[in-house]
Amino acid sequence: MEIPAGGWVLRPWRAGDEPALVKYANNRNIWVNVADVFPHPYTMEDAVAWLQFQQDRDPPTEFAIADADEAIGGIGLRLQTDVYRRSAEVGYWLGEPFWGQGIVTHAVRAMTEYAFERFDLVRLYATVKEWNPASARVLEKCGFTLEARLRRSFTKDGKTGDLFLYALVRE
Ligand SMILES: CC(C)(COP(=O)(O)OP(=O)(O)OC[C@H]1O[C@@H](n2cnc3c(N)ncnc32)[C@H](O)[C@@H]1OP(=O)(O)O)[C@@H](O)C(=O)NCCC(=O)NCCS
Repeated sequence: MEIPAGGWVLRPWRAGDEPALVKYANNRNIWVNVADVFPHPYTMEDAVAWLQFQQDRDPPTEFAIADADEAIGGIGLRLQTDVYRRSAEVGYWLGEPFWGQGIVTHAVRAMTEYAFERFDLVRLYATVKEWNPASARVLEKCGFTLEARLRRSFTKDGKTGDLFLYALVRE
């Protein structure tokens, strides 16, 4: 399964992605913007564990963002449960050499289409740390609306800060 995303694709993670995953995910500039569950340093063992965890998931909710040669980033959909079951959280990261080319904007647009088509969702949302304007801009370009500033709602790298809550809803 491959989802076209501009000149790139979203595709399930697969065996063989480990070296690219370590090469691009092992980066402090990525780590400061994501949750602590994303390891730093990002080792080969972490990459192996991630790929094992993703193996044969059907339907897939975690995708590599890939060019013709290799995985260069990741994007995922976290389906919520219970009364929140028609909501999903979107999360993403991209290898630093590829920043600023519109790649994640393509990826989020493609993911949005897949999410609403494949799952019974009415709401996609993402939270952005206050020091990450590039991610906020990606969401705005994809039609997400700023709903709230969640004050002092996360702690990362020794700093407690505000999160911007962005959402895209389908009537
Ligand atoms: C944030 C991230 C996903 C952006 O990916 P990307 O492919 O470089 O994003 P795009 O090129 O599609 O768009 C970036 C936009 O942000 C803008 N931007 C970049 N740095 C900016 C800054 N410091 N202030 C304001 N806007 C900024 C760019 O100009 C561009 O907008 P434009 O098209 O209107 O010019 C990527 O930098 C990344 O992986 N960062 C680390 C992990 C992360 O932050 N994940 C998201 C957690 S919420």
